[in-house]
Amino acid sequence: MKLDLKSVDQIIGKYDGEDSWLVMILQDVQDKYNYLPECALGRVAESLKIPLSRVHSVATFYSSFSLAERGRHLIRVCDGTACHLRGFTHIKEEISRHLGISEGQTTKDKVFTLDVVACLGACALAPVMAVDGRCYGNMNAEKVRVVLDLYRREKRH
Ligand code: FES
Repeated sequence: MKLDLKSVDQIIGKYDGEDSWLVMILQDVQDKYNYLPECALGRVAESLKIPLSRVHSVATFYSSFSLAERGRHLIRVCDGTACHLRGFTHIKEEISRHLGISEGQTTKDKVFTLDVVACLGACALAPVMAVDGRCYGNMNAEKVRVVLDLYRREKRH
């Protein structure tokens, strides 16, 4: 896919082309594309006049950055102790069945990406899943379907 890099140029311009803002620039690029496309990293390195290897080392250092293409909505399902004991496996299986993706995968229509994480900090509400950082607790199979359908419908507007 050929990307229009004008947005990357605008982001770099917003930070006056200062390489000290590299992390913020990468954050904004990821907000724009949902991940860090290789060609965008190249444009960042070129525009900031820094080695691509430096851009890569920052992009791979922070776990919040993704070099793999992701969907518009990031689902994180919790496999921490409390959630594991209270139904993580059923929740993850229901998400996988409903969307046709496994952990680390993105739906063909690029709407959802599924990640498994250690703890979302809402253990009292286990089992927990989050979509785009918003937590949903006391999950069961039916609630999974309702939440995912809400986000899927949102895409059509
Ligand atoms: S173990 Fe799942 S939110 Fe903490």
